[in-house]
This record gives sequence, structure tokens and C-alpha cells, in this order.
Amino acid sequence: MNTRSAEADLVVVSNRLPVDRASEGEEWRRSPGGLVAALEPVLQTTGGAWVGWPGQPDLEVERFTFDGIDLVPVALSAEDVERFYEGFSNDTIWPLYHDVISPPTYHREWWDAYVRVNQRFAEAAANVAADGARVWVHDYQLQLVPRMLRELRPDLVIGYFHHIPFPAYGIYSQLPWRNQVLDGLLGADVIGFQRVADASNFTRAVRRRFGFDTKAGTVRVADPGGAVRTVIAKAYPISIDAAAYDEIARRPEVQERAREIRAELGDPDTVLFGVDRLDYTKGITHRLKAYGELLAEHRVDVEKVTLVQVASPSRERVVAYMQLRDEIELTVGRINGDFDTVGHSAIRYLHHSYPREEMVALYLAADVMLVTALRDGMNLVAKEYVASRVDGRGALVLSEFTGAADELGQAICVNPHDIEGLKDAIMTAIEMPADEQRKRMRALRRRVREHDVDRWSRGFLHDLGSVRS
Ligand code: G6P
Repeated sequence: MNTRSAEADLVVVSNRLPVDRASEGEEWRRSPGGLVAALEPVLQTTGGAWVGWPGQPDLEVERFTFDGIDLVPVALSAEDVERFYEGFSNDTIWPLYHDVISPPTYHREWWDAYVRVNQRFAEAAANVAADGARVWVHDYQLQLVPRMLRELRPDLVIGYFHHIPFPAYGIYSQLPWRNQVLDGLLGADVIGFQRVADASNFTRAVRRRFGFDTKAGTVRVADPGGAVRTVIAKAYPISIDAAAYDEIARRPEVQERAREIRAELGDPDTVLFGVDRLDYTKGITHRLKAYGELLAEHRVDVEKVTLVQVASPSRERVVAYMQLRDEIELTVGRINGDFDTVGHSAIRYLHHSYPREEMVALYLAADVMLVTALRDGMNLVAKEYVASRVDGRGALVLSEFTGAADELGQAICVNPHDIEGLKDAIMTAIEMPADEQRKRMRALRRRVREHDVDRWSRGFLHDLGSVRS
């Protein structure tokens, strides 16, 4: 242990570091996203460290400081990327935990890589954590790290937050390594989930596999040495930096850009908007189907309504993602071919990511926001839309299968599998009177403002701080 270097009292561990860069030799930039924004101030004041992958295969980078945070890179070889990241994380766990929307693939070599890489992350965290430090591990790529870390460093207080859904036992039990993964998670002192339902799926799996007692958000865990610990396992719904979205949305140049976007679209009466990572969990094809039928049935008119769909590139080497891209692009092409006029396009499809300011301008330009995920841990897009609508206008169509639906009761709630219901919900949103929009948006905005990402991280760290005190 005395070989430990520059010790940190708080260590965050996630698959990706909170920075990225276009290519080697370029400058590092802070990654977009709420997690970084939420944790940066705590890490800066506690002299904390962040352990993660720098985002490219075979990239060995020395530990470095960025914006006052100590960054500890964990290198992944091309084979690790293929087996641990694209394979076990994104082609086994991701589809399994999203209710097998796409069939999960089980490969023993992928599992071996997952164990090996999780061990490497655990060792890197153990190496930088001060005596009795708090370590906060994030997400499904690193479910074995809590147990590995406890074995390496029993003095640490360990938290884990699961950003994606935790499935019902009937699905979870398919996993050939179901006991090892549960045991990995139970190495933590606090295990956080997005929804109450995720936490209860987890505790049920723990009861079924290990027979441990679970009650009121806690599990009595019998560790391998015989000691019994109480582990907290409950919901901490994540959020966004709502004040930052509000501030950007009030900038005159952003509001001007929103007007410009509408003008560029040919000033339609209604702009429908969807923005997602290009992922099969997001229900993009269901949304397109519903919209295509509304056009075909003349319930919406291409001269008056436009759908803007941003699909940001994601996990492009995983076959299921390649197939989905083909399917979406074929569907968009068909719908546009069938319904476009020379002057108007049914769908403006954009396979890009955009900076936050442009996103806020798009949110402000959108009369109707479509969130039709088939399964989603939280869905921060729904919250970003609400936080950006400083004018109190706009309507949110929100899938009941998102974590956000538990909080955003004033949205128009949909089951995206029910295409007729989805079409009706889109029409309700298009036709919603301005005062009804305002009433709903006021309640939605209050919720998102009061439950922001800062409150989320403080809540989790508070519970972590209460362990062993
Ligand atoms: C989801 C996951 C994150 C992941 C992100 C982007 O939000 O919960 O852990 O980082 O997707 O996916 P990627 O595979 O590009 O990291």
C-alpha cells in the first residue's frame, strides 16, 4: 500500500474519463454531460481523482490534471475495446438490461475480458485512494469493481450508481454470470438506481440468488469472510444542471438561433423534435412509423409540420447499431420520398452530435418534443427540453418506460409500442392550447429545477458519508 501515489479522498470511477479529444496530440476538452458538471465542484474542493478510459484503443496516457481534477487514465487495448466495451458491456449487458429489445450475445471470452478490465479499473482506483476514502463507481461497464475494490482496500467506503435499468428477475436470470455480477455489486456500501422499480428488481434478484434479507432499501450481505454488512440499495434519480440550460436558453443569440432554425425549416406551424443517441432502446423506428402514418392518413400536413430527428452516432462497430442505422435511414428515405414536396420535407434527419447551445436552440424551436424510448434508465433529453423552455411553451410526449416518466407527470405519457396511442398523443401535443402548455410546463419546470443534478450527487454522497460514521 505504501506505493500509493498522490492520494485522493474522493475517487470517481467510470468507463470514460470526463474529457475527450479529437485525436492524439490535440487538446483535451471536457466532455459534455451532467455527470461531469455535477462532480467537478466536489472533486475540485476535495482534491479528488477520476479514473477512466481515455476513449481510444491502445492509448497509454500518463496521469494528468485537468481543470483542477486529477485524471487517472486506464488504457484499453484494441482487444479490450472489442471484448469488454463493444462485446460484454454493449452487446451482452446493455441489451439484457434493456429488457432484451435486441437479443444479448453471451460469449465466455467477453466475460473473461470484462473480469480482467474491471480488475484493472479496481487496481487503478485502489492505487490513488487515500486511507478511508470514498470511491464512487459508475455504471454497467464496471459492475465487478465494488467487490474487487473491497478486497484490495477494505478501508474504503464504496458507492456504485447504475445509470441504466436493472431488469426483472425473469430476464436477469438469463445471464450466465448472474451470481458473479450480483456479488460484484454487493461489494459496495451504497448501490444507487434510477427508479424504485430498478432497486426492487435488484433486491429481488439478490434474495433469489443468495437468500439475503432485504428490507426498506437495504440488504444484509454476508461477505465471503463471514462478516455481515448492511448495504443501502435504493433509487436516486439522476438529473441535469437545470440552471445552466435555463441560462443558455435566455441568451438573445440562442433565441435568435431558434428563430433562424424555424425559418430554415420553412417556418412550419409545428416543429416536432426527437434527439437520441442512435440506439435501439430509444424507439426511433416506432416514432417514425407513427409519424409516417399520420402523414399517410392526412392527420398532419407536410406543408405545416416538420419532424427534426437528431440521431447522434453511437457504438458504430456493434452490429445491432449498424443494422438499426440502416433501418432508420431506409425508413426516413421512404417517408420523405412519399411525402416531401419541393419546398417542404417531412423529416429533417441529422446523423450528428451538436454543442449544447445549438441543442438548446433546437429545444426552443420545437413545439413538440418526442421521447419514445422502449426502455431508458432516465432520459435526460426530456429534462433538458423542460429546463430550456424559459418561455413556458412546448409539449412533451414521454414514454412511460423511461425513468423520467416517474417524475414528469405533466408530460403526455405514451406506450410507444401502441402505435395508435402514440399517434393520438402526437396529435394531442400538436393541438394543445397555449395555456394548457404553460400550465403543464410550469409544473414540469419546477420539478426539474428543484431536483437537479447537484441535488442528486449531494443525496448520494450524503448517504455514502453516513456509512460507518
Ligand atoms: C449511456 C450509459 C453511459 C454511456 C453513454 C454513452 O448513457 O449509461 O454509461 O457512457 O450511454 O455510451 P458510450 O458507449 O459512448 O460510452
